[in-house]
Amino acid sequence: MTDYTPTKDDKFSFGLWTVGWQGVDVFGGPVRPLLDPVEAVHRLAELGAAAVTFHDDDLVPDDATRDATLERFTKALAETGMGVEMATTNLFGAPVFKDGGLTANDRTVRRYAIAKVLRNIDLAAELGAKTYVLWGGREGAESGGSKDVAAALDRYKEGLDIFCGYVREKGYDIRFALEPKPNEPRGDILLPTIGHALAFINELDEPDRVGLNPEVGHEEMAGLNFAQGIAQALWHGKLFHVDLNGQHGPRFDQDLRFGAGNLRGAFWTVDTLLGAGTGRAYDGYVHFDYKPPRTEDIGGVWETARACMRNYLILREKAQAFRADPDVAAALEAARVGELAVPTLAAGETLDDLRAEKFDPEALGDRGLQFERLDQLAMEHLLGVR
Ligand code: GCO
Ligand code: MN
Ligand code: MN
Repeated sequence: MTDYTPTKDDKFSFGLWTVGWQGVDVFGGPVRPLLDPVEAVHRLAELGAAAVTFHDDDLVPDDATRDATLERFTKALAETGMGVEMATTNLFGAPVFKDGGLTANDRTVRRYAIAKVLRNIDLAAELGAKTYVLWGGREGAESGGSKDVAAALDRYKEGLDIFCGYVREKGYDIRFALEPKPNEPRGDILLPTIGHALAFINELDEPDRVGLNPEVGHEEMAGLNFAQGIAQALWHGKLFHVDLNGQHGPRFDQDLRFGAGNLRGAFWTVDTLLGAGTGRAYDGYVHFDYKPPRTEDIGGVWETARACMRNYLILREKAQAFRADPDVAAALEAARVGELAVPTLAAGETLDDLRAEKFDPEALGDRGLQFERLDQLAMEHLLGVR
């Protein structure tokens, strides 16, 4: 047993906008002072994180201070050994993006959005980020008639095709990750779930350069199972990045610290990221995208950042213990979980062979699957009694 103190090998990363969130929401203004990105880098490094991520506006909101900020920021990275693993563009905060960026009806807004993304891709490459996230928070609508969805998807594709071509021409080692969300801030957002985004990627000119950055809370807002969603993304080879946080069921985007909200979901999420059962593990950064609640002062902010990593490490230990437990191995066997990996038709078998087989559907139907025993073992590992 460890004391759950992270090291850089755990590859934990945080958005500057997470610990830097000042608590502005739809009902109230800031509750915390502005956090200097340099301070965030130092504090996160002390807590054991390996990297930070940022939107252009989190780090360089203003051209007048851009060079000086970047100088201080890169110095902080060098002093702490922290990396920048991902970057993204703020295409949602400024009034110009009230109808979206890449899919705004207004063509000039779309052209401005593309220029803003390209500029920050250059900075991402300069700082060594390998993933570039596109979260389309404002790409959507509140009302049916205001958005031609097919045209919007054409423009979304046009944007992605431009960005893929740009990194190819520049020779940047960067892949794009789309982040689905069903709603908020728009009434309905385009590419609302993992499944929608996966299908969209197939329509792009360079689909190999584009994958996903799914977020726990966003899938759960839609009532979906996050672990199952990322398992499918892994199956497609598309889990390029991940946003871990906590959520209590379908309601507004809570962005709680990882492990809060749906704890059982968090257990299966970690189990899935570790590749348990499937052999398809996630090997990227474990990125936390959460908002320290407005109730917290800056001390509470660092407490929540520490807790995100600590909860991941605790759940990792629990998931590993679950998978190593001989009683679990027996329960998996009894539940025929491994049998699902056996192709339904044997090599060389024909459909005539299959149809000639004598089946006893009644006997098959009488057989219990013993899944509850298996799930209770998981529950007991999680509750700490095994
Ligand atoms: C949300 C989103 C955002 C994005 C981030 C990247 O909580 O709605 O997760 O936080 O991940 O802004 O663009
Ligand atoms: Mn969110
Ligand atoms: Mn996110």
